[in-house]
Amino acid sequence: MGSAVGQVPEYIEMVTRWVKQYSRMPCIVKLTPNIADIRKPAEAAKRGGADAVSLINTINSITSVDLDLFAPEPTIDGKGAHGGYCGPAVKPIALNMVAEIARNSETHGLPISGIGGVTTWRDAAEFMALGAGNVQVCTAAMTYGFKVVQEMISGLRDYLDSHEMALSDLVGRAVPNVTDWQYLNLNYVTKAVIDQKACIKCGRCYAACEDTSHQAIAMKPGRVFEVIEEECVACNLCLDVCPVEDCITMRELAPGELDRRTGIKRGDYANWTTHPNNPMAKAAE
Ligand SMILES: Cc1cc2nc3c(=O)[nH]c(=O)nc-3n(C[C@H](O)[C@H](O)[C@H](O)COP(=O)(O)O)c2cc1C
Ligand code: SF4
Ligand code: SF4
Repeated sequence: MGSAVGQVPEYIEMVTRWVKQYSRMPCIVKLTPNIADIRKPAEAAKRGGADAVSLINTINSITSVDLDLFAPEPTIDGKGAHGGYCGPAVKPIALNMVAEIARNSETHGLPISGIGGVTTWRDAAEFMALGAGNVQVCTAAMTYGFKVVQEMISGLRDYLDSHEMALSDLVGRAVPNVTDWQYLNLNYVTKAVIDQKACIKCGRCYAACEDTSHQAIAMKPGRVFEVIEEECVACNLCLDVCPVEDCITMRELAPGELDRRTGIKRGDYANWTTHPNNPMAKAAE
């Protein structure tokens, strides 16, 4: 289906119905990610009788511009068009879209084939944990050859064996843990902790927290970096920029422990829907 037509749910439903009517082959509808709400085409495919959906296709993109020719690259006779973004960079987008379909009640049970940046067995396992019954590989095969799939199979087998799981135990296992932000526990409080023995004194955590977060890391003489618990909001930024693995970790406050930033003891689960600062707050049901 052309990209414009391919994004209209009514057409997806109609074409899927035709295919199911005139073919005995399984019909797996491939979904474009170039759409705001991926659930709509998936619902249309299901209504049309699809046996499964597969996603994602490539994302419309211009990767770079030739600054002498002033045209998108790759350039053909002075012009460029958008291309299809794919590979590891699109995996987070693909994972989210797979999860959106897997947890949508309208498409519950519709088999999903996960595509987008699958390069290692871990990638495959992540797609499956979010509801994909299998995965497809394009860019990784183009980059490394078909052998890359053998490594995915052996890696996945080792992972399942070490966790004493069957593949069916893995598929969809993370779906119940995918939620919307307003339901996240606001009373889950953590604080960054720096392992001074592991720290190489590069100062990246300091720069990140000082300039773009909450000024919660102090630089002391001798380039000793320490977290100021009274200021730390647990944004995780320092942990993301630290080049030393496990040098910065997040410590969870115990129930009842005082949060020195807010002066409030850690309470039970509570989310934004009932928070006093939320103008739309409604009493917990
Ligand atoms: C060179 C190239 C050609 C592609 N051609 C098609 C195609 O003809 N039909 C299609 O549905 N998807 C096509 N795709 C999209 C892939 O099947 C896949 O959905 C996408 O690249 C994301 O997976 P990946 O990150 O593993 O590459 C193509 C991708 C690439 C890179
Ligand atoms: S978690 Fe965020 S606020 Fe806390 S120290 Fe790290 S960067 Fe600063
Ligand atoms: S980013 Fe990590 S290694 Fe660098 S100073 Fe901070 S804690 Fe130390």
